[in-house]
Amino acid sequence: MIETRVLRVDATQPDPAVIDQAALAIRQGKLVAFPTETVYGLGANALDAEAVKRIFEAKDRPATDPLIVHLAHIGQLSTCASQVPPAARKLGLAFWAGPLTMVLPKRPAVPDCVTAGLPSVALRVPSHPVARALMEMAGVPVAAPSANRFSRPSPTTAAHVLADLEGRIDLVLDAGPTDIGIESTIVDFTVDPPIMRRPGGLTLEQIRTIVPGVVARAWYGGPEAAQIAPGQLTRHYAPRAEVTLYEGTPERVIHWVAADTRTLTARGARVGVLAPEEDLRALATELAPLAASGRVKVRPYGARSSPERSAREFFAALRALDETDVTHILATSIGTDGVGLAVRDRLFRAAEGRVRKV
Ligand code: TXA
Ligand code: MG
Repeated sequence: MIETRVLRVDATQPDPAVIDQAALAIRQGKLVAFPTETVYGLGANALDAEAVKRIFEAKDRPATDPLIVHLAHIGQLSTCASQVPPAARKLGLAFWAGPLTMVLPKRPAVPDCVTAGLPSVALRVPSHPVARALMEMAGVPVAAPSANRFSRPSPTTAAHVLADLEGRIDLVLDAGPTDIGIESTIVDFTVDPPIMRRPGGLTLEQIRTIVPGVVARAWYGGPEAAQIAPGQLTRHYAPRAEVTLYEGTPERVIHWVAADTRTLTARGARVGVLAPEEDLRALATELAPLAASGRVKVRPYGARSSPERSAREFFAALRALDETDVTHILATSIGTDGVGLAVRDRLFRAAEGRVRKV
């Protein structure tokens, strides 16, 4: 156990004196959790193999799951990437700083433990003012996975980080809740055509306005998943409760969530319902008596009419439900348009692939 210090910092105008302390800690090989526009990251000097190994220990993360390296600006790309195809440069110029990660051939300076031995490295320029100031002042690339324990939901607040990592890391920069709420979109440029490896805060539609040829590959399931996309195994955001994702026509989804909630509670289970506001409204009369008796807990995450808010609230809602005594979580999605695709992907993983098609 080590003492975890927490420093509050303004999200839009971070105090340079606070950032300086965090930057010094990074240079000293320490672990610093910091906000990005997507989720909180757990950062260490990417060029210091010992510091990077401590990230894996703190998170209980398997060494086979490579990390994303964060840069202060696009000009630092060639410090880590040995080759940048023109399409990648275009995409970076269009969407950095922002929720985009690009996989490129790596330079030898990037230690093998960062990339889990792969010849490629994942790179990202975050747009959060605190993250940017930290990269700038640290003066080194910062390797940072999401700041959660392995297989826990990603953290969107400093409280989430502390719940998972207090006593295991040196410092947390607390700038309040993150804006986008789900991780960056990963596009792999070591293959042609480039492949979207993970849907995220930047939508496929946005990416294709700049690089129309990017393909979305099935990025989960199947025994080959580990090779196709390292770290993208189905079991990834698995909460303690058993999650089931309901998909089908809206009426049938509502009908079956209500019916299964009644069946499960009749058997003594404690049920959580995780859904956008429209679905919870449709379920309200059905579930109200059970909710009043405490056997059902409902938790909205945004609304189908506001996909961005759904993404922002998703992980916090999943964590909050999972911290209650529920044994089962029945969930509905907001569809797969825009950022909905990324939210649906996180739900699918939380459900470990358990989808009830109705
Ligand atoms: O938004 C984000 O991307 C957040 C914030 C902190 O920046 N970070 C994040 O990191 O989500 P993490 O470690 O939770 O996810 C990193 C994923 C790995 O699981 C892996 O799938 C992929 O990035 N990755 C990293 N290096 C790769 C490589 N060389 N080739 C393919 N995929 C890679
Ligand atoms: Mg993660």
